[in-house]
Amino acid sequence: MTVVIAACCVVGVVVVGATLRYGAVRPSALAPALTPTLSVPAIATEEYGRRLIAQTAELLGPDQPDANLRYIDSRLNCGSCHLSTGNEPGTLTLLQVTEHYPRFSGRVGAMTDIEDRINECMQRSMNGTPLPMDSAEMIAMAAYLRSLGAQYEAMGAAQKAPMEPAAFNAPSRKADVGAGRDVFAEKCSICHGEDGAGLLAAEDRGKGYLFPPLWGPDSFNNGAGMHRVLTAARFIKARMPLGEADLTDDQAFDVAAYINDQPRPQMPNLERDYPDLSLKRIDSPYGPFADDFPIEQHRFGPFQPIEAYYEALATP
Ligand code: HEC
Ligand code: HEC
Repeated sequence: MTVVIAACCVVGVVVVGATLRYGAVRPSALAPALTPTLSVPAIATEEYGRRLIAQTAELLGPDQPDANLRYIDSRLNCGSCHLSTGNEPGTLTLLQVTEHYPRFSGRVGAMTDIEDRINECMQRSMNGTPLPMDSAEMIAMAAYLRSLGAQYEAMGAAQKAPMEPAAFNAPSRKADVGAGRDVFAEKCSICHGEDGAGLLAAEDRGKGYLFPPLWGPDSFNNGAGMHRVLTAARFIKARMPLGEADLTDDQAFDVAAYINDQPRPQMPNLERDYPDLSLKRIDSPYGPFADDFPIEQHRFGPFQPIEAYYEALATP
């Protein structure tokens, strides 16, 4: 059943044509028959943008039949972190993204637009290469994200309110990787797998994951926002376990540290991030820094002394 739904969504409108040509199509027959349609030049519609965000692994991943569209090395979807397609209110929502750009990015050291920000997630969260600015894929994704503003405006106050527990508040101690392993085994492994490698949506890896990998070759790389412990803990406390987010701050903090202590793809040239080091996020898990705190403390805390150090610098 999962296979049928996934296949239908991916090929969208062309399913109708295929059904006419092939009669009642079995899922196994559907995939090969429709493969050629994937290389038909894509039209940069908001709908194509929405599909790219929901099914990124399938449309832009390592198993995409058209080599020119293999932009990412992970098998995540944008929607693996920006839940649904970023159109749900709450942590990592993209509903109001238009209001945030253009803006200065400390990590890049320049003014950035939505398109630049998409490419940051392409290179880091998706462990891939940037989309050309004039590609149908970039135009479609940006058009979809810009369309969310109107969607948000049309929502009532009740719909806009996120259904989330109280926001994460970092404990004033170092995160405990060992305790995080226990939280993972008890609360997360049932979906994400005991080895954190996720669960594929179908036998065909090209369809991506039903439960995405939290580490390993198909996951985000070490330059991604989700690889910062505070960002990960914030997301996990708000959203995981999916459908029944009930972790304490301590559990979210420790399990985030456990996940971020596992092997994952490495991004080159991370030392070039944040040309002005004083703007660097205090939980960036890689150097250099404008302070003398050990890298271990930037990875796992305690974060309050680092925060206090920068606050003192900022106060004349
Ligand atoms: C592994 C998790 C993950 C995945 C997968 C992911 N992102 Fe992100 N994304 C993040 C995080 C974390 C942030 C930063 C939030 C912050 O800085 O507080 C972010 C930020 C963004 C922003 C800026 C939001 C704003 O309001 O400023 C955009 C746009 C975005 N992502 C688009 C995408 C797109 C498009 C994809 C797929 C190509 C994608 N992301 C995949 C985790 C992810
Ligand atoms: C009921 C199944 C389920 C459980 C239990 C669960 N998750 Fe998830 N998780 C998901 C799904 C599904 C997604 C992707 C969202 C989507 O595709 O809609 C996800 C996404 C994520 C992501 C971002 C994507 C990625 O691959 O990194 C992180 C991080 C994460 N989960 C961490 C956790 C942690 C930590 C726990 C345990 C506290 C947990 N999850 C428990 C189903 C689950």
